[in-house]
Amino acid sequence: MTIENQRFLQALRCEPVDRPPIWLMRQAGRYLPEYLQTRAEAGSFMNLCRNADLASEVAMQPLRRYPLDASILFSDILTIPDAMGLELEFVAGEGPVFNKPIRDDADIHALPVEGVMPKLQYVFDVVRAMREKIGNKLPIIGFSGSPWTLACYMLEGQGTRDFATARRWLWQRPEMVQLLLDRLSHQVADYLAEQAHAGVDVLMLFDTWGGLLDEPNYRDFSLRSMHRVMQDLRDRHAVQLPVMLFSKGCHSQVEDMIASGCDGIGLDWRANIDTVMQQVAGRVAVQGNLDPTSLLADEDMIAPVIRARFSKVVNKPGYIFNLGHGLLPQTNPDSVTTAIETVHALAAEACTAGH
Ligand code: CP3
Repeated sequence: MTIENQRFLQALRCEPVDRPPIWLMRQAGRYLPEYLQTRAEAGSFMNLCRNADLASEVAMQPLRRYPLDASILFSDILTIPDAMGLELEFVAGEGPVFNKPIRDDADIHALPVEGVMPKLQYVFDVVRAMREKIGNKLPIIGFSGSPWTLACYMLEGQGTRDFATARRWLWQRPEMVQLLLDRLSHQVADYLAEQAHAGVDVLMLFDTWGGLLDEPNYRDFSLRSMHRVMQDLRDRHAVQLPVMLFSKGCHSQVEDMIASGCDGIGLDWRANIDTVMQQVAGRVAVQGNLDPTSLLADEDMIAPVIRARFSKVVNKPGYIFNLGHGLLPQTNPDSVTTAIETVHALAAEACTAGH
């Protein structure tokens, strides 16, 4: 099937496009009143994720409001550990919690190797329902948490400020953490391959907690396991889709990321997008990186900020506009319109100016 809107796919090959592709992390979510209504109908966030009709509906909601160039699977990264038996719950006001976190070596040895994917069938059903609704208009992004980021939640039992328990494991029991990451890499590759078979066009690894690690540990634990996932996808599953890595807080390790063989990298808002685009020089696509809190400012602040930050990169091949992290629930949906319109205007001006 040929996708009509090719901007995102072309940018991932660093080919020139008429304007940069735009999509936004957490584009479907709590800042949209229609999302809150559908979630209420589903009863809870996980019920929503498990209901292909409703999950595909919320994935469509931002596409109706904004001229976005990609859609993203509506699900969560913590579905894999849930399917491995850790029992995920979203506690109101507290975020994700596992009822059965990993406590000792025996828990890691006991993790299931077989039979995990059938428990995730509901995710692949959402991909198929989304494809049904989107047709061939837009590419769909499939995703997983990176093995390290999943391990953080599994060892910690919940989200915390510094994931000190997970990081203590890394110093005290490095070989056990590698074993856990190997187990997870295998599941993550299977999971992404199943999403590919269900019809996604691009794969993304969210490595939200890669930036908690020092440089050697980022390379040896987080990036190494993402590299394994990519190898496994290509060698064991013959999946050739483009893969993007988003290692939050790791822009000083761009060279290592490129060497991993990915097709694109996501940047958080602390990276200097001009510097990174120059350094990368068309070897991979670069996505990012507007500070999501900038969209909480008065609306007339938004255009000047986007102009100041993105005028140099907006028409460079391989540039993808996005935020540096997910849209915040407090965001006014009109501010998203302003941001998108500003990027469009900026791209048109840069084009006439011959940049
Ligand atoms: O981007 C999208 O629109 C696609 C859907 C998506 C969700 N989560 C939906 C979601 C994606 C790609 C994710 C990834 C995810 N989930 C990450 C990696 C990216 C990142 O944000 O760093 C992480 C770390 C998680 C784990 C997670 N899920 C947390 C910590 C929370 C609670 C806090 C929060 O940020 O909301 C969630 C819940 C979640 N995942 C919601 C949504 C729409 C909100 C659920 C609700 O409606 O209450």
